[in-house]
Amino acid sequence: MLRILCRTSVLAALLVWLVSPAMAAQSADDAERAIAHAARWPRTRSVGLIDPKIERWIDGVIGQMTLEEKVGQMIQADISTIRPEDLSIYPIGSILAGGDSPPLNGEDRSNASAWLETARAFRSGSVEARPGRAAIPILFGIDAVHGHNNVVGATIFPHNIGLGATRDSRLIRRIGVITARETAATGIDWVFAPTLAVPQDDRWGRTYEGYAESPELVRPYARAMVLGLQGEPRKRRGVLDGYVAATAKHFVADGGTRDGIDQGDADIDEKELIRIHAAAYEDAIEAGVMTVMVSYSSWQGVKNHANESLITDVLKGRMGFAGFVIGDWNGHGQVPGCTDDSCPQAINAGIDMLMAPTAWRRLFENTVRQAQSGEISLARIDDAVRRILRVKARLGLFERERPFEGRPVIGIAEHRAVAREAVRKSLVLLKNNGGVLPIKGSAHVLVAGAAADDIGVACGGWTLSWQGTGNTNAHFPNGQSIYGGIREAVTTMGGRAELSPDGNYSVKPDVAIVVFGERPYAEMKGDIRTLGYQATDKSDLALMKSLKANGIPVVAVFLSGRPLWVNPELNVADAFVAAWLPGTEGGGVADVLIGDVAGRSRYDFTGKLSFSWPKRVDQTRLNIGQTPYEPLFPYGYGLTYRKRAELPPVPED
Ligand code: BGC
Ligand code: BGC
Repeated sequence: MLRILCRTSVLAALLVWLVSPAMAAQSADDAERAIAHAARWPRTRSVGLIDPKIERWIDGVIGQMTLEEKVGQMIQADISTIRPEDLSIYPIGSILAGGDSPPLNGEDRSNASAWLETARAFRSGSVEARPGRAAIPILFGIDAVHGHNNVVGATIFPHNIGLGATRDSRLIRRIGVITARETAATGIDWVFAPTLAVPQDDRWGRTYEGYAESPELVRPYARAMVLGLQGEPRKRRGVLDGYVAATAKHFVADGGTRDGIDQGDADIDEKELIRIHAAAYEDAIEAGVMTVMVSYSSWQGVKNHANESLITDVLKGRMGFAGFVIGDWNGHGQVPGCTDDSCPQAINAGIDMLMAPTAWRRLFENTVRQAQSGEISLARIDDAVRRILRVKARLGLFERERPFEGRPVIGIAEHRAVAREAVRKSLVLLKNNGGVLPIKGSAHVLVAGAAADDIGVACGGWTLSWQGTGNTNAHFPNGQSIYGGIREAVTTMGGRAELSPDGNYSVKPDVAIVVFGERPYAEMKGDIRTLGYQATDKSDLALMKSLKANGIPVVAVFLSGRPLWVNPELNVADAFVAAWLPGTEGGGVADVLIGDVAGRSRYDFTGKLSFSWPKRVDQTRLNIGQTPYEPLFPYGYGLTYRKRAELPPVPED
């Protein structure tokens, strides 16, 4: 037995020796290329995070903490795998609710009170658990990425791609304020937003989480959203009640991976990394963003989660980020040599808190051991804990009263009005031949297409469930479908709206609005290999063709998380509107499409593309500023009622 063991280990050693020279060379090369040169990066400073008085207070708290308590602060568990009573054994510093994680005693699609109860249970668990020890409230984070989108009844805004089209950073800030209010009302302190990705290949399934393909627009939006969520950074006191901590994510170049592959490799040079992908982090940091989430992706073949030069030298050093760095969902487990439950590399690279949804217990134990053995230095642990306590203190978790909790602000009319305004402003008019739009309020309108009366499809991914699948209109008690909005508009003006997903009708309508597009998806599952819409099954095109064949003018309303190649659909429709993923306020579509009784517009189109629209299906990397640049509709394109243009047929091959 012993001999066999010896023999296998010799064999293994031989194999390693045979294989490793090439492998070592490759990874050494990668490692070399993946070292960022901090001096080339912009110099910035966190605003409003450091206050000498608070820092002295943190000194005192850290001085009283045991190693276990310190490491505990650095671990984040998912609420699907931890109970409040676990906190009396494990001094865990943070929890999150993942996209599919239900509140305590509830199902995934729960209302605000179930979430508030959950937040309160964990909070009191964290402060009452260990008598005699420092009471450190837990920090609760959630993906409120287009409104408080895990909560039934919440206001759901257009996904970021639609907000990019509004070109209105003041609106972005108001959306941030509302998202913060609805989140704070459920007792949750922290949102994993805004996404500052600058998607360069729209086959990426997270393209819609990005505001634009150009940093020029992402920059002011980053600032506006952080200020909206957190409030203005304030010298003496921290965040006010009704605001939350924001997260700039995912650092960095999540939108720059080769072929738009989620969690893939950004094989770009440092200049491009800085100019395109890192620029908006300057703005977020200067707006006082409290946390930054590291990207799953790699740069030059090295996982960002292990890249000390990016996290420590650049982000915390050169860019002066004084909040804390959070890893992504088991992102540390993807670092070579790491597992979900052990990864000193990620902490040594500079990550302050590891998102360890399921393996948090063993990760906690292993990390304590690694700190005891010196594999992770105490200085590194203390730096991480200081940053986490700083954010907790600035958030007021230690003393703040929370009058905002439980306030009935979820999905209120005032919030929905802002979402509806955002929908109006996000619509981009790509074609309007013969002036078919606006539609007279007195018209008989056929509302066709599978997505016409489907709020879930209008919301897309990250809505009530992780991928946004499985939702019905009943899950949106405060929402309105696009059909619902059209019906409301024409009925009040003496017209008639008829819902018919498959396009059948008894009385010939004056016009048909066909609402169609992508089905919900989120990260990982949303990646595609071709930009062609319905590459195989052309059922939406067929529907529009049959309406046209019967002499009915067709208005196409296209729901999608990215520009897609739709030339055949563009040719058959008289008018074509890119409506992105508008969310729960379908009425915003009717506001712009349906005119008054005389056919005059009530609202003009103002939306402009924040992503270039492809002319050919092979234009997978099509971005403003690149050469050659031959889009069908360039960045910034968008027709209005005042400025008319006829679109000639576009090539279909
Ligand atoms: C995503 C993050 C998200 C986190 C928590 C990850 O898979 O990449 O954007 O914040 O999960 O749900
Ligand atoms: C969670 C998401 C998370 C994803 C990552 C899902 O189960 O609900 O929040 O981002 O896993 O793999």
